[in-house]
Amino acid sequence: MVLYDDYGRPVTNLRISLTPHCNLRCIYCHAEGEKEPEGEMSLEEITEILNIAKKIGIRSVKFTGGEPLLRKDIVEIVRAVPEGIESSLTTNGTLLAPIAGDLREAGLARVNISLDTLNPERYRRIAGRDLLPQVLEGIHAAVDAGLTPVKLNMVLLKGINEDEIEDFLALVRDNRHLILQVIELMEFNECSMHGDVDRLEHEIAEQSKEIITRRMHHRKKYCLDGAEVEVVRPLHNTEFCAYCNRLRVTSDGKLKPCLLRTDNHIDIRGKHGAELEALFEKAVKCREPFFK
Ligand code: 5AD
Ligand code: SF4
Repeated sequence: MVLYDDYGRPVTNLRISLTPHCNLRCIYCHAEGEKEPEGEMSLEEITEILNIAKKIGIRSVKFTGGEPLLRKDIVEIVRAVPEGIESSLTTNGTLLAPIAGDLREAGLARVNISLDTLNPERYRRIAGRDLLPQVLEGIHAAVDAGLTPVKLNMVLLKGINEDEIEDFLALVRDNRHLILQVIELMEFNECSMHGDVDRLEHEIAEQSKEIITRRMHHRKKYCLDGAEVEVVRPLHNTEFCAYCNRLRVTSDGKLKPCLLRTDNHIDIRGKHGAELEALFEKAVKCREPFFK
C-alpha cells in the first residue's frame, strides 16, 4: 500500500526531526523550519510513528535535527525502524566517529554529512566552532562502517566556499563511497551569501554526463570524471515540488506536509493507533505544492 496525495504524488519518504538542538551555529541554518519547538518526542512516540509509517507504505525514513546525534537514544531509535524501511540520517558529523559502527549495526543504511569547507578557518566562520577535524574523522568512520554512499552536503556560499568546488570534486573523485551534494542556499532573511548555483550547475553539466534516473527529478545527478555530484535546488527547480514524495515530522510531534509551508501542520502528540494513522492520511491529503 502507498498513499497518494491529491496531486498524484506517492508519499514514500518520511523525515523525522529528532531534536531542535545543535552543537553548531551555522550562519545559514534554517533548522528545518522549527521555530519554537515544544519538547522532543520520546523513543516510544517515535517508535509508534515508525510503525504507522510502515503501515501506510513509507519505504525510507531520514532522521534530521537540529543534530540528531545529540539524542542519547539515537541507536535505539535507529533500531526501532521496522524491517522494509530504509533508514538514513543527516548529521553535521562532529559526533559521528565514535558511534558510526553502532549505528550501522542497528540497521542504519547511510548518512548525509554537512561539509561546507575543507578549510579549518572557514569552518569556524561558517559553523561557529572549531570542529573540522572531528567531521573529517566522522566521514572516514562512516565509510569504514559501511554507512555508504556517504553524501557530503555542501551549501554553496557566495565569497565563502565557491572557490572550493575543485577540492571537493577531488575528494569524491574515484571514491565510490562518497557523493558530493551541492545545495542551493535557502535564505530566510535578507543576506547576500547566495552562491551562484546556476553557473556552477551549468559548468558541471557541460563537463559531465547527466546520470539518468527516473526517481530523482528534484535533484540533478552528474558524473564528472569519476566524481558523483548531485545538485539540489529547492527554490529554483520547478520540478522540486512536482516530484516531492516526502512527509516531515517536527521534533515536537507535528506532521509537516510541505518543507516550504508553515500554515498546515498537524499535531500528532498523544495520538495512537488508528487515530494516528488517520492523521497521517489527513496530512497526505492536505499536501499542496508550494510551486505549481
Ligand atoms: N539552506 C540550504 N541548506 C541548509 N541546510 C541548513 N540550512 C540551510 C539553508 N538555509 C542544510 C545543512 C544540512 C542539511 C540538513 O540542510 O547543510 O546539510
Ligand atoms: Fe543548523 Fe545543521 Fe549547522 Fe546545526 S549543523 S547549525 S542544524 S545547519
